[in-house]
Amino acid sequence: MKFPTSIWSSLIRKKIKSDPNTSVPLFPIKIGHRGAAGYCPENTFASFHRALLMGVDFLEMDVQMTKDDELVVIHDSTVNRTTNGKGKVKDFTLIEIQALDAGRWFDPRFSNERVPSLGEFLDEFGGKVGILLEIKNPSLYPGIEKKIAHELLNRGLVSSEEHPVIVQSFDQNSLKKFHQLVPSIQLGVLLKKFTRKGISDQELVSFSSYASFVNPKITMVNRRLIEKIHQHGFKTFIWTVKKRNEVDFLRYYHVEGLICDFPDFF
Ligand code: G3P
Ligand code: CA
Repeated sequence: MKFPTSIWSSLIRKKIKSDPNTSVPLFPIKIGHRGAAGYCPENTFASFHRALLMGVDFLEMDVQMTKDDELVVIHDSTVNRTTNGKGKVKDFTLIEIQALDAGRWFDPRFSNERVPSLGEFLDEFGGKVGILLEIKNPSLYPGIEKKIAHELLNRGLVSSEEHPVIVQSFDQNSLKKFHQLVPSIQLGVLLKKFTRKGISDQELVSFSSYASFVNPKITMVNRRLIEKIHQHGFKTFIWTVKKRNEVDFLRYYHVEGLICDFPDFF
């Protein structure tokens, strides 16, 4: 079991109102999904700043890599949906991808928004708020774990108690690689699908050698799943909250955090 670490204990004390006897979280921490993706074009500075104004504890964001091996903050493996360009992220250089308009698709008011590099994102927000960094599609980008680790280490962002960085991914191999590189960073396994029986004890045990969080999709969540995750010593952040009433039922399950498109919902 990976918890509690000093980082998490500190965060819990500051952000989570817990039952003093059991340490059960009574209210989840607030995580802005791709910033405040319900209000602004996702994964842009406008979105991250809006989330900060809404008092988030963490910014969630997605990292991929360009043709010239630069890390960029973008969700899809193509630029088609969230910019005015077309093509795969891995076929653009950093200069080319940053020449695209990453805001107009959402609203013309955001037409100045660009695809941030990871460096720009960390320089702007690192150490000011928690960061929940998702390694997206790592099988497309050999070496991405090492590059992300360098960006964090170079900025001294691996051991902040006040504003931690947590790295998550659907790709368990990528998380294992990252754990080898920077064992002090807390990792989260993202879950999207599971069998009708739920996630097995065996799988949860296998995560525990490198991860501290197990973060399921909201459609998978029920009391039994959350209890099982907790029994194995993991914390859990649930994604993606898009409706106000979802906040209430998830609070009832005592989850540690909610990843939300509309961070002002709670
Ligand atoms: O934070 C978890 C969540 O972001 C994973 O799904 O598709 O929104 O990146 P997605
Ligand atoms: Ca994500």
